Amino acid sequence: MDYPKRKLIMLPGPTNVPDRVMDAMIRPMISHRGETFTSLLKSVTEKSRHLFQTTLDPVVLTASGTGGVEAAVWNLVRPGDKVVVPVFGEFSTRLAETVELAGGEAIRVTSEFGTVPSREAVEDAVNKAGNLKAVFIVHNETSTGCAVPYIEQLAGTVREKGAFYVVDAISSLGGYAIPVDKWGVDVCITGSQKCLAAPPGLSLLSMSKRTEEYVRKNPPKVRYFDLARQLDFLAHGETPFTPAIPLYWALDEALTMLVEEGLENRVERHAKHAKTFYSILEAMGLKGFADPKVRSNTVISGLYPEGIDEKQFRKRMNEEYDIILGAGFGALKARMFRIGNMGEVSTAHVHRTTAAMALTFKKFGYAVDLGRVSAVLEQAA
Ligand SMILES: Cc1ncc(COP(=O)(O)O)c(C=O)c1O
Repeated sequence: MDYPKRKLIMLPGPTNVPDRVMDAMIRPMISHRGETFTSLLKSVTEKSRHLFQTTLDPVVLTASGTGGVEAAVWNLVRPGDKVVVPVFGEFSTRLAETVELAGGEAIRVTSEFGTVPSREAVEDAVNKAGNLKAVFIVHNETSTGCAVPYIEQLAGTVREKGAFYVVDAISSLGGYAIPVDKWGVDVCITGSQKCLAAPPGLSLLSMSKRTEEYVRKNPPKVRYFDLARQLDFLAHGETPFTPAIPLYWALDEALTMLVEEGLENRVERHAKHAKTFYSILEAMGLKGFADPKVRSNTVISGLYPEGIDEKQFRKRMNEEYDIILGAGFGALKARMFRIGNMGEVSTAHVHRTTAAMALTFKKFGYAVDLGRVSAVLEQAA
């Protein structure tokens, strides 16, 4: 296999990984039942507490984000349980399906893709459901570029019902803050390859006290994702099964970078660059896909002008500028682009991506007012 050329990865995951994070993986192999791994796990756990803003220990699973979501579902949902799931894109659709695979009754609250279900509609479903077991909600719908603006507010309604509140923040945590203890989120899940700017392959999951108690008292019918078992091993500095040790080194370094920058600064940086992206796309005369009221700071979705072949466009961006853009999802796949504004994202990334897009549009015969674009870039610099 050829060694791949370094590209600017503007995907909604995986994202660019800083060299110091990649380099952290090149260490001699160690035993996962030895002192060095215990120290590494302790370090990762402490920094993960900072990420989730929790006093309890989050668990790190050797699995991509889907594994974290499955763990949450299979540990909390039992056959016949009622679970409210807002559905407004691919990942929330999958979430509802996973609840059903575990035997739960998914009560879907839907909205057109590109929007999010209203808070009232979700609260209505929560209030109407008798014996509600949980609400599972995707915070940032990566397939459409929409972020739910009422994660904190919904918590109170869910708590009043005595239900569990589970948030899939796979493409947002680190680019957004979700202080799980303060907001009352029972389980929050994120992935290593998005806003944390680590390689793919790990899923991080926080649990509230009552979730810990529930999973201990109610063992799930799964072994690998048994969260009580994960907690028991974590208590003595190990994981139940063989962890992807090099990825833990990388995650530790990525979380060190997050702590150095400060979560608040990191969230602000994501918001700032998202704003520039949206302003430039508008200056290019492009339409966003997401409803502006709920558009995401970590996934920028937009529509190509009529007549542009999205595959050809991305191919040219790759071949001529070494930039990898995300494709669309679902019915609008042929017209949609997605840009990951995550992790390492910087002014240089935004300028390079948008300047290359503007020039590529010109080559495809779509007139971009470069003067307008550069005025926005100058202002944002
Ligand atoms: C919101 C959301 N949930 C779940 C997933 C699945 O994560 P993974 O592909 O890491 O398994 C993704 C991946 O993009 C996601 O964005």
